[in-house]
Amino acid sequence: MQLYERSAALGLLDTLLRGAADGGRVGLIAGEAGIGKSSVVKAFAAACGGRAVVLWGACDPLVTPRALGPLHDIARQTGGALAEALAAGAGQSELFSALVAELSGPRQRPPRVMVVEDAHWADEATLDLLVFLGRRIERLPALLLVTYRDDEVGTDHALRAALASVPRSAVKPVPLTPLSAACVAGLAADHGRPGAEVFQLTGGNPLLVTELLAADRAVPATVGDLTRARLRRLSPAAREVAHLVSVIPTSAEAAVLAGAEDAVDECVAGGVLVARGDMMAYRHELLRRAVEESLTPPRRAALHRLALTRLALIEGTDPARLVHHARL
Ligand SMILES: Nc1ncnc2c1ncn2[C@@H]1O[C@H](COP(=O)(O)OP(=O)(O)OP(=O)(O)O)[C@@H](O)[C@H]1O
Ligand SMILES: [Mg+2]
Repeated sequence: MQLYERSAALGLLDTLLRGAADGGRVGLIAGEAGIGKSSVVKAFAAACGGRAVVLWGACDPLVTPRALGPLHDIARQTGGALAEALAAGAGQSELFSALVAELSGPRQRPPRVMVVEDAHWADEATLDLLVFLGRRIERLPALLLVTYRDDEVGTDHALRAALASVPRSAVKPVPLTPLSAACVAGLAADHGRPGAEVFQLTGGNPLLVTELLAADRAVPATVGDLTRARLRRLSPAAREVAHLVSVIPTSAEAAVLAGAEDAVDECVAGGVLVARGDMMAYRHELLRRAVEESLTPPRRAALHRLALTRLALIEGTDPARLVHHARL
């Protein structure tokens, strides 16, 4: 698979690896779902070749998270003392020491790159592990890469506290930008689709672009699944807000959502809505359409009536918007 517009991120990861011999770092690969976090780490791992041994651990969205899930994944790859300590049911400090030995022992040439994927789903013990390792990484010849969805990590999320306890000097953010309009236009042209429209719907999110171009329908099924999975995690009140915003094209003014402030906050913390100036919106127009499409016709009609009533009370609302809701 070809990765576009990631040479800066790959270059930064390469620099971090080359510097690891003089002091390891925590590379933070944060971004919304589908921005390309896993893809860039996989491309980096492939480009490392024999220059590093990459150890992969993943956190999963389980109802009951498995304790130290990523460490179990990694122990399966390393075997040795770490795997034995886990099998023997060793305590946390013994396990963490075994991991540090795995990352820093004299045999550890080439250097280790340890990946913890999807840390927004990390269990508490894994967060402890990130703190433990993060606070020691500068003394280890290893690179720790942590990927997470920053739009699912609100200000109160435990991952933020864990990362905040790692020394600033040890942390290196690896920024991932959306694909540019020019890049999206090029990809769209390959599929005979209008580039400007694909960019407007997806905001250049690589997952949304790929899915939209591969699908033969207005809202690809995978995008619908992704959006519905997020909505399922919301409380009924927050889901109600998400549904209401879904019938209002592009964005909804705060006044339309008056009285539901807590529910709005929950939508933001859950990565469903974002603030755009005074307005609330879905992160991408395609996601809004996916939710709107999932509503039954009577429910959609009721929400349009509600939107119409509320918008009519706001002075200066564009009459075309009122007509839009009145007609649907
Ligand atoms: N730079 C890129 N150029 C082209 N396509 C890309 C790029 N980055 C990602 N993609 C495409 O987008 C899809 C999603 O990417 P990826 O799985 O890496 O996202 P992610 O940020 O890890 O998402 P999640 O938060 O769900 O784990 C990939 O399958 C790939 O097809
Ligand atoms: Mg991923």
